[in-house]
Amino acid sequence: MASLEKVRKEIEKLKREIRHHDYLYYVLSQPEISDKEYDDLLRKLKDLEEQYPQFKSEDSPTQRVAGGVLEGFPTAKHRVRMLSLDNTYSVEEVKKWEEKILRMLKKGPLSYMAEPKMDGVSASLLYKKGILTLGLTRGDGETGEDITANIRTVKCIPLKLLGSDIPQEIEIRGEIYMNKDDFEAFNRQRKEAGEPVFANPRNAASGSLKLLEPAQTAKRKLKFFAHSFGWCKAYSFKSQEEFLDKVKSWGVPVNPHNRYCRTIGEVVEYCLYWQNNRNKLAYEIDGMVVKVNDFSLQQKLGSTLKSPRWAVAYKFPAHQATTLVEDIIVQVGRTGIITPVAVLKPVSCGGVTISRATLHNFDEIERLDIRVKDTVLIERAGDVIPKIVKVITSKRKKGSSKFKIPDRCPVCGQKISKEKEEEVYWYCLNPNCPAKLKGTLLHFASRKAMDIEGLGESVVNELIDRKLVRKISDIYRLKKEDLLKLPLFKEKKAQKLIEAIEKSKTQGLERLLYGLGIRHTGQKGAAVLAQRFGSVENLFNLKEDVLESIPDVGPIMAQAVVNFFSQGTVKQMIAEFKKFGLNLEAKTRLKNNLPLSGKRFVFTGELKNFSRHNAQKKVEELGGNWSSSVSKNTDYVVVGENPGSKYTKAKKLGLKIINEQDFQKLVKQ
Ligand code: IVH
Repeated sequence: MASLEKVRKEIEKLKREIRHHDYLYYVLSQPEISDKEYDDLLRKLKDLEEQYPQFKSEDSPTQRVAGGVLEGFPTAKHRVRMLSLDNTYSVEEVKKWEEKILRMLKKGPLSYMAEPKMDGVSASLLYKKGILTLGLTRGDGETGEDITANIRTVKCIPLKLLGSDIPQEIEIRGEIYMNKDDFEAFNRQRKEAGEPVFANPRNAASGSLKLLEPAQTAKRKLKFFAHSFGWCKAYSFKSQEEFLDKVKSWGVPVNPHNRYCRTIGEVVEYCLYWQNNRNKLAYEIDGMVVKVNDFSLQQKLGSTLKSPRWAVAYKFPAHQATTLVEDIIVQVGRTGIITPVAVLKPVSCGGVTISRATLHNFDEIERLDIRVKDTVLIERAGDVIPKIVKVITSKRKKGSSKFKIPDRCPVCGQKISKEKEEEVYWYCLNPNCPAKLKGTLLHFASRKAMDIEGLGESVVNELIDRKLVRKISDIYRLKKEDLLKLPLFKEKKAQKLIEAIEKSKTQGLERLLYGLGIRHTGQKGAAVLAQRFGSVENLFNLKEDVLESIPDVGPIMAQAVVNFFSQGTVKQMIAEFKKFGLNLEAKTRLKNNLPLSGKRFVFTGELKNFSRHNAQKKVEELGGNWSSSVSKNTDYVVVGENPGSKYTKAKKLGLKIINEQDFQKLVKQ
């Protein structure tokens, strides 16, 4: 017993130590130990907690990242509305704002806090007895989304407030943001992986907070500064300055550039300083926030429906410049999306040289009527790529002509198409288009598709760059001797890859269809098509209505499948696959004879012995179906640990609910 008590004390001591170092690192930016020493402390704590799980607690620094996948974000009402700020765009307007509040208060002089206006995402953090218990987005100001699991992954947000002088309950509000450097590195990574990039750090932060896998959010290097509070129980602050100091002493980061100003003159000077020096900050700011410092005066001034009267935003002018459009070119992304880009005469805009602007899509060119040789006004508002605001038509050269939308892919020359008439985006659907080939081939070879071990990014790059592969089917032409000519390969590796490619020929239609990367057709869609049509031949010359009549196939997927199989290059590719001896038949066509034929499964919560993916695969192998949502057609709802709302719905609908053991028995039969 005595030794257990010792362990408990050791765990508490480690937690205290780690929190103290978090404070030194994240709040004061004055670390006293190396990363290695910090990691050692964390490891020690983790080991002890594993060994003595009775001492594990939610507020432990080891418990930031929850495993598993969330089923969505339930909404919750804000106890006090989250307002927004009135904007001003000039020094005169800021001074007028002071005059107005002085008239209302009938007294002066006033002092202020001037704070950088973080260009991030606002969030509300509720601490009960010092423990972080709820994290909400702003939402519409009345109701936000519960993103607690993701907020917990933000390393600089304390899971437990420091010190003993803390309120019983407090809702701290602030901004979640991403540093410019981290944002750029993150976008680079996404680009390399063929994923769409984010336009600016704010979008990246916002997208990261809405991920359903907290472990993914944890990788996103998000940060937080507290700037205001919603409400507070059993504590009061005299001023914004005192609030910020207190919050900081509790271990919550506040912006070190927040400044107390004795007069509006000082405020203005400080605002202009940051207007000219914003590039020096590691993060984006889009203005300054000016707040009456004294809380009793704030209370007297009150708020309108939308915004407080005691604060105002001073918005910086967007970085703008005029320049010449030298050309309009068309790029093809790794997903086949076609984007027009304006090539500009290089011009300096807010300290950055700009030579390109994205035009998003052809409708945008039409809307702004942008033509080659036009003079245009460009703007950069925190975005990496600037946008064209308008054409200066008075400077338009005589005889210029409207931009014509190309009807063929500029890279492979195949016809481009829209997914639907009312869509604005055009795509190149040719899976062998050189602009897409690396991405398509990687996907084709991936584990859930043809599962060709050894055909990873570097090999794919090498094969395509050296022109050994010009279209997907070429991989089945490769010989060991071809591979041995490449520096990447030695005998054993080459032999292994050739064997893996050979083995993939037997994978069957389900995986092949998934591997071809047909738009809007994921793993499940591919399986449905394969099982329904049995052989690849039956997929040519299909009509959309036939596809749409299949459960699980919607109109968007139906259209994408028809478009895909109407291409000549696809016909040729399939003919080649046949020639190379690939199995082009479905593996589970005869599913009527299988034990789970016709049965629909839904999974909720975490399973111990299966990953979600493996459990779903098992169901498919046995002829069953799975779906991600519960309906009256569901036959079995398999409930794991911490089930979500699907469980409640299943109970309401009176569906058959089974646990993991029952499921195991069912699939073992
Ligand atoms: S005070 C009533 N201080 O700007 C709102 N807001 O349009 C009180 N923001 O959504 C907020 N930096 O998330 C405050 N230093 C700062 C801020 C700041 C950024 C955001 C905030 C709000 C938006 C206002």
